[in-house]
Amino acid sequence: MAKLNINGRVVDVDVEPDTPLLWVIREQVGLTGTKYGCGVAQCGACTVHVDGAAMRSCSLPLSSITETQKIVTIEGLSPDSSNPLQKAWLDHDVPQCGYCQSGQIMSAAALLKEIPKPTDADIDREITNICRCGTYNRIRAAIKQAAGVTG
Ligand code: FES
Ligand code: FES
Repeated sequence: MAKLNINGRVVDVDVEPDTPLLWVIREQVGLTGTKYGCGVAQCGACTVHVDGAAMRSCSLPLSSITETQKIVTIEGLSPDSSNPLQKAWLDHDVPQCGYCQSGQIMSAAALLKEIPKPTDADIDREITNICRCGTYNRIRAAIKQAAGVTG
């Protein structure tokens, strides 16, 4: 049994310590916005925040997370989808199939905490999430809108 702080709520989970955080989030806690893509920390579909940093939850064993660490998933980014990134994503109609997008938004949110006014180069360097639909141009545009960057 372990306790996790997810989206401001402390939950008890009963799984093996080596279970990846992704599966704890999806199957134990029931938050399915975080997606499984590759399972080997390559694609970023499973990105969540751990103490504000973007982490690939498919490759984080439960045993590496303590009760005091704050996990935030796409469901916890804002209570009513009012985060500027979520609004910008809608304005730019970013998703195509949508599968990678919660991971993209979580990576973008972590980026804006570190670099509030990112350039295209910052975005390309820092956001390494893969989108098989190729929505990268719209992702860049939405991040810059959310950041208040023009051009
Ligand atoms: S599913 Fe975690 S990085 Fe691909
Ligand atoms: S929108 Fe389809 S994989 Fe990114």
